[in-house]
Amino acid sequence: MREPFTLRADRRAELRDRGFNRRDFARWAALLTAGPSLPFYNEAALAQDIRAIGTIPADAVKLNANENPMGPCPAAIESITAVVRRGGRYLFDQTYAFIDTMAEVEGLPASHILPFPGSSDPLHRAVLAFTSPTRPLITANPGYEAPASAARFIGAKTIQVPLRKDYSHDPKAMVEADPNAGVIYVCNPNNPTGTVTRKEDVDYIIANKPKGCVVLIDEAYIHFTTAATPAIDHVAAEKDVIILRTFSKLYGMAGLRAGAAIGRPDLLEKLRNYGGLGIMPATGMAGAVASLKDKGLVADRRKVVADIREDLCAWMQKKGIGFIPSEANMILVDGKRPGRQMSRDMIAYKVAVGRAWSALPNHVRVTIGTRDEMARFRTALERVMEA
Ligand SMILES: Cc1ncc(COP(=O)(O)O)c(C=O)c1O
Repeated sequence: MREPFTLRADRRAELRDRGFNRRDFARWAALLTAGPSLPFYNEAALAQDIRAIGTIPADAVKLNANENPMGPCPAAIESITAVVRRGGRYLFDQTYAFIDTMAEVEGLPASHILPFPGSSDPLHRAVLAFTSPTRPLITANPGYEAPASAARFIGAKTIQVPLRKDYSHDPKAMVEADPNAGVIYVCNPNNPTGTVTRKEDVDYIIANKPKGCVVLIDEAYIHFTTAATPAIDHVAAEKDVIILRTFSKLYGMAGLRAGAAIGRPDLLEKLRNYGGLGIMPATGMAGAVASLKDKGLVADRRKVVADIREDLCAWMQKKGIGFIPSEANMILVDGKRPGRQMSRDMIAYKVAVGRAWSALPNHVRVTIGTRDEMARFRTALERVMEA
């Protein structure tokens, strides 16, 4: 097969060094043309799965994609509105402001922050950059599916390590899963369980990972709990760690797109290789800066979500409905039937719940919505469980 002309010789050499062969090159050429945000999964795409079950009515409660019904905070809305009026310009200054603000908040040099429109894109890039046919991806089970789908696309193996009994990551099993691991993916708190992996366990993974392996720590849900410790100190210590952050969850900006990869500049440089970075959406950048500057925002929203979640848990306990205690804006609920069936039964009451994972096939993931939305969820759940 002729090698596609779009792959430069240095890129081909790099891919060969990483264990890819000529047959893989066409796929890489397609990937590099399309960009890493395209062919894989994110919550939005995975939530579309419910279309296979039934169309979500417009007036349904949407608890299927870990979105935040609060939306952007007032300061973010104000900044976004102001920037829209200047939208005829490229507005690079918004991206620089985002990098500087993020760096200041995290106590890191600006060189350690790479902005993205959300965190799906850098998540995919990290898998493309550091896994290969000879360097597998290690993930938790059940865990977020996006890294494994990126690995599958380039022919890298994924090894799934079961969560421990308390639904935290199993540090020893993850570091021992393969001596050639390319990426160990730790989602903290974990999607879909909403459970936390303790600092000492994350530290253990970083200290004991195979040589050359990058620990990819997805902190999409970190703002929802004080029980999980951000891994920023490992970046400051120049470890082989990349942290992913997004403004899609607590900050309520999933449709506006802002996120970042945080890591050593040489690791971030590797992420730049896949499809270029392009221009960031000024609206997302402006909203993120305003959100970061709103000092009380994280604690306030964390409490709002925790209060609603704990009320729901107390109610489910009283009703004898099983669930996995969570620290985030999602909770796995035992529907006592296969997940797809549960989704179908709930949608009949105009409540869209999330998917199930094969490790816990009877549990569906439910996003914590507003109080009113959760009241509708409870009514529907009660009827479905009684039927
Ligand atoms: C664990 C995890 N990581 C990353 C993402 C990506 O989100 P986004 O691309 O909106 O930042 C999601 C989305 O739901 C997620 O659950």
